Amino acid sequence: MARKKIALIGAGNIGGTLAHLIGLKELGDVVMFDVFGGVAAGKALDIMQSSPVDGFDSHMTGGSDYSAIAGSDVVIITAGFPRMPGMSRDDLVAKNAGVIATVAEGVKTHCPDAFVIVITNPLDAMVLVFQEKSGLPPEKVVGMAGVLDSSRFRLFLAQEFGVSVEDVTAFVLGGHGDTMVPLVRYSTVAGIPVPDLIKMGWSTQEKIDAICTRTANGGGEIVKLLERGSAFYAPAASAIAMAESFLKDKKRVLPCAAYLSGQYGIDGLYVGVPVVIGAGGVERVVEIALNAEEQAAFDKSCAAVKELIEASRKLVG
Ligand code: APR
Repeated sequence: MARKKIALIGAGNIGGTLAHLIGLKELGDVVMFDVFGGVAAGKALDIMQSSPVDGFDSHMTGGSDYSAIAGSDVVIITAGFPRMPGMSRDDLVAKNAGVIATVAEGVKTHCPDAFVIVITNPLDAMVLVFQEKSGLPPEKVVGMAGVLDSSRFRLFLAQEFGVSVEDVTAFVLGGHGDTMVPLVRYSTVAGIPVPDLIKMGWSTQEKIDAICTRTANGGGEIVKLLERGSAFYAPAASAIAMAESFLKDKKRVLPCAAYLSGQYGIDGLYVGVPVVIGAGGVERVVEIALNAEEQAAFDKSCAAVKELIEASRKLVG
């Protein structure tokens, strides 16, 4: 069986980490694309030079020629600009929407059958821009946010309970950012819901509320510490989990920014919901019943996503 081909558009911090993980997990060959072709080529060569030590066979190349991504099975997009001091959210939307429109053209031309994972922020708007500009089927275009948000939530819960991260599952809904909705009653330790654990005296409502807030602000906490740049190890690992589920047809249930056409009462937006990812891309949107409080938080989050999209439409059409 021929190796799978994975295109990484953007060879910055996340792009480089993605390539390294793809090599270590032997998920396939890698083509890195960046406007700075030398950076893409340099990272590809550097990582390949680690392959004899780590014992993986992945071919990696890098450059700034879109034709190299032809026939890719998976495309992961991190191309874009970071938010700089003094830059408004709308400035960032306009700049990155322009980048994503160019990337959409490249993907549409060279690998229209690929499964595409968008990571560039502001995520919920950028993934819609990509889908609209590329015309790829919505089930083959997803945004990475929920896996990262729920991974942060799982870590903080595991630390609070003093248990392995492996035994904690967490459920998040909504947009990526401070309006995300951590669903505490669907988050568990070995199947025991968090509200039951509170009743069992393992934690308090106040502590769990603080964990939810820390999760929603998880990206900002890292930005503050790094001072230059934003999180990249956990975002890369999260996108790899999604790519792996597609490539191996694992049908994992993962929270992703998925295109909704009526589910959860939303039509025509990308919002974070649990989905099944398999060889067909997003094979199913998992729709759960929300209580009044959760519904209100979800609606608020969707309103924030809508506002972002309207801003991006006004700015880039
Ligand atoms: N085409 C291809 N690559 C581009 C383009 C473009 N039009 N414009 C910029 N790039 C490249 C930059 O040259 C840079 O190498 O995108 C890369 C972005 O890398 P970093 O600045 O290191 O950003 P990173 O930390 O990888 O995050 C990328 O993901 O989580 C989000 O908010 C984050 O939007 C950001 C994105």
